[in-house]
Amino acid sequence: MIGVPLQLGPVRLATNLLLAPIAGYCDLAFRTIVREWSTHHAGAGVGVGLACTDLLSPQGLLRGTSSSLDLASTNDFDKPVGMQLYGSDPEIMAQGARWAVEHGATVVDINMGCPVDKVTKKDGGSKLLTDLSRAVAIAARVVNELEACSLSADEWQRRLGNAQRMESANPLARSPVPLTCKVRLCWSDADYHAGNACSPHLARMLADVGVVAVTVHGRTTEMKFSGEVQLAGIARVVEAVNGQIPIIGNGDVREAPDAVRMIRETGCAGVMIGRGALSTPWLFRDAWSLESTGVVPPPPSEREIIESVRRYLQLMVQNRGDHYAMVQIRRRMTWFAKRLHTIDPRGRVVGVKPLKEAVRNAQTPSEVSDRFDEFLAGGLRGGALEPEAAQA
Ligand SMILES: Cc1cc2nc3c(=O)[nH]c(=O)nc-3n(C[C@H](O)[C@H](O)[C@H](O)COP(=O)(O)O)c2cc1C
Repeated sequence: MIGVPLQLGPVRLATNLLLAPIAGYCDLAFRTIVREWSTHHAGAGVGVGLACTDLLSPQGLLRGTSSSLDLASTNDFDKPVGMQLYGSDPEIMAQGARWAVEHGATVVDINMGCPVDKVTKKDGGSKLLTDLSRAVAIAARVVNELEACSLSADEWQRRLGNAQRMESANPLARSPVPLTCKVRLCWSDADYHAGNACSPHLARMLADVGVVAVTVHGRTTEMKFSGEVQLAGIARVVEAVNGQIPIIGNGDVREAPDAVRMIRETGCAGVMIGRGALSTPWLFRDAWSLESTGVVPPPPSEREIIESVRRYLQLMVQNRGDHYAMVQIRRRMTWFAKRLHTIDPRGRVVGVKPLKEAVRNAQTPSEVSDRFDEFLAGGLRGGALEPEAAQA
């Protein structure tokens, strides 16, 4: 429902908007700046209700592989946080879920939507959409494990952030960390168009074994990331669960009105945003403001955007070191640049190609920071507009 915070089992989020997992992008530094756009900026109010880690290999977590531990790293500001696991073995997934609870997860999520070969060839991700009994068995086993992991009241408090825990009638009752699943409509386009998508049936079965919410990316596996998101397919899942659990819609939300449209047209209880947040980390603030007041706040200034990117760079240096920060900032500048455009002395709107090139050519984080200063002083502008910025 528009403007209504989302409830995930015992956890009531501050809003109904979630940051999606995007492998290679939604690390701790990025989740932090998304949260800061909802808390530290003028007139921010609230925005993102839950942010999720990228997909995590339970085997990697259990073995303590450094890449898995880096991906799972979180802190007290990064709350509430979902930790997403992928795999196909119920027992290993259960052990991964226990690890997540022991390492700061507010919510555990199972990936049932990834179309990438590396994941589906091992029967994980969206391959589970072709084996519903396995998908449900994994969820049931993980729910069972989560019920056996207890968290103290103090520990619960630390992982809520701006969320709340709804107390049960019995104050001594333990509420387990809730489990959510993220699915696609189904594997094949033919099944979807014939009205045989598995997601409505699957969502009902997941609810029956104790999954507290299901996120539906409105594409089939065969669509990967092409074509348009199918709001009608998400609406069918909402209809099928008939209020038993909330359904979270996902796909192609780039502007605040897209989130409102998704809720109106599908009846979903929450909206998950992925790529839209990469160029517009303040999108959650905008969408929640539109939902709750009917008004989108004015866009941030050029300086606010640059300072946020600079902060993102500093956080990456702090969390993962210079090399990681430089690799990321070079590829991420193109996304941030989609929302940076400027008026030249002749009154024309121009892009920021020279800034992107300067960041790409910089050798160190402090050089990148100098280029940001140069930009803020009026330099490094020009070139064609990003298509998305041109439409904005
Ligand atoms: C590069 C990339 C990596 C992704 N990684 C994950 C992932 O780790 N786990 C997951 O559930 N979805 C993943 N997704 C899918 C997104 O979470 C989301 O479902 C999809 O991008 C559609 O939403 P959007 O249009 O808001 O981006 C990924 C998408 C992209 C483009």
